[in-house]
Amino acid sequence: MVESMSQAVTVFRLGHRPSRDKRVSTHLLLAARAFGAEKAYYTGTQDDSLEESIRKITQDWGGDFKLEYASGWKQVIGGWEGKVVHLTMYGIPFQDAVKEIRSDPSPKLVVVGGAKVPGEVYGASHWNVAVTGQPHSEVSALALFLHELYEGKELCLDFPGARLNVVPQAKGKRLQTHAKRV
Ligand SMILES: C[S@@+](CC[C@H](N)C(=O)[O-])C[C@H]1O[C@@H](n2cnc3c(N)ncnc32)[C@H](O)[C@@H]1O
Repeated sequence: MVESMSQAVTVFRLGHRPSRDKRVSTHLLLAARAFGAEKAYYTGTQDDSLEESIRKITQDWGGDFKLEYASGWKQVIGGWEGKVVHLTMYGIPFQDAVKEIRSDPSPKLVVVGGAKVPGEVYGASHWNVAVTGQPHSEVSALALFLHELYEGKELCLDFPGARLNVVPQAKGKRLQTHAKRV
């Protein structure tokens, strides 16, 4: 098991719209947490039920993942003390940039778009990287990016304090429950 990832990553989801993005934003944040990010910000419309569902997942499945709402992207990117990686199909292929990103020790803010990404975000980012030049989804782009960044080590990440954990089996489902978060 890996206690924590070598690169500190915070994910930044731009422009959440509860009516249209509820599932995809939830899935993006679950992928961020499962694959090694420590924290996430989101902008757009503040969504208590999104925050509550992520909080519950963390309570049940462990770790210390945090989600925070911000009223505007400038506040998050402008205040970020580290480097900014923007995932966009218009960027440079991530396989060409990932080594450089990995070897940079500063904390990373990984920005993923929503409805419309303001043009200034491209200029404010240290790297604009494409996970192929094909349109797909924020979730697949983030998952592949983190997998490459961490070279697969995120697959062995430990989630301390879990109330629930899966006991892997070839067939069937087995869960272990713990009385309280430790
Ligand atoms: C519905 S997509 C919109 C695609 C958009 N035209 C773009 O700039 O990538 C929403 C978000 O998914 C991510 N995304 C989608 N396809 C991607 C790709 N091929 N490479 C990197 N990120 C991608 C980007 O963060 C994008 O803002």
